[in-house]
Amino acid sequence: MSFKIVNFKCFGDDRGSLVALEANKSVPFNIKRVYYIFSTKDGVSRGFHAHRKLKQVAVCVKGSCRFVLDDGKQKTHVLLDDATKGLLIEDLIWREMYDFSHECVLMVLGSEYYDESDYVRDYEEFLELSGC
Ligand code: TYD
Repeated sequence: MSFKIVNFKCFGDDRGSLVALEANKSVPFNIKRVYYIFSTKDGVSRGFHAHRKLKQVAVCVKGSCRFVLDDGKQKTHVLLDDATKGLLIEDLIWREMYDFSHECVLMVLGSEYYDESDYVRDYEEFLELSGC
């Protein structure tokens, strides 16, 4: 399964905590896009797609949520509940996000501008593309 948890350096002192993310350093690509998901309603799941080319790092900067990551052969569940850890997804992985806590803010850094043609939204097509 092709994903990684990246540990970010956290500058903590008696005032609190600070994490800095830099392109091609802590985040291993050129960041072209940032988006964040928040005020997610109870019971909502999102995602249900894979990306052909896009690389992403997802950071739960507040609260928690869970990912299902599926490479066509196996599914892995990942809990994001720590603002100092990022979930790096670089390959063709089907992803679903669920179990958003009320205060969850899920920030996603992307290597490309938004491009609908990069999405694979059909699960059967995803399985074909992933060789399964
Ligand atoms: P959607 O793909 O449904 O989000 P998710 O995969 O997290 O469930 O996106 C919701 C809307 O936001 C959809 O109309 C496309 C738009 N959108 C952008 O315009 N730019 C972006 O970077 C993203 C991620 C979504």
